[in-house]
Amino acid sequence: MFHVNDLFVKSTSSIGAEEKETLLHGLRNLLIISAIACLLIVFFILNNKPPDPYVEKSLNLNGAIEDGNQLFRMNCVGCHGISAQGLVGPELNKVTEELNDKQIINQVINGLTPPMPSFEMDPQSMADLLAYLHSLNN
Ligand code: HEC
Repeated sequence: MFHVNDLFVKSTSSIGAEEKETLLHGLRNLLIISAIACLLIVFFILNNKPPDPYVEKSLNLNGAIEDGNQLFRMNCVGCHGISAQGLVGPELNKVTEELNDKQIINQVINGLTPPMPSFEMDPQSMADLLAYLHSLNN
């Protein structure tokens, strides 16, 4: 049978636990939200680095595939193979699908991964080289 007293006792004893849980949920959500906010701020700062003028210039120029091919033969085939099939260095036929242009430019000019040397070339040559690398995965 139904007793009013039972209901009263039950509901008062469970309110404390429920409130605690809501409070914990609230705190957890707050933590998650602030963590996400921190990450967003970090990404925002990283993405707003002043653009590298050399990279920007190279990206804005139209490259000529044939000139890029010549540059590649002179500078890169020794390690990446005559048809970019890979030798000492990895094959580059699909590299434009794996790396974006900025990453490729950095790889070429910074020599961050020995034994690949760093290359100095004018932005037009870089644009040509990029055009050639893009032509490889067609
Ligand atoms: C002395 C040998 C050598 C020469 C010359 C060389 N590379 Fe490399 N390259 C490498 C090696 C080794 C790697 C792999 C580095 C690594 O594993 O981190 C590499 C990596 C790369 C990558 C990154 C590939 C990837 O999948 O991450 C690119 C792009 C690249 N080279 C482009 C070039 C271009 C363009 C030239 C010519 C201008 C060139 N390389 C000349 C040895 C060379």
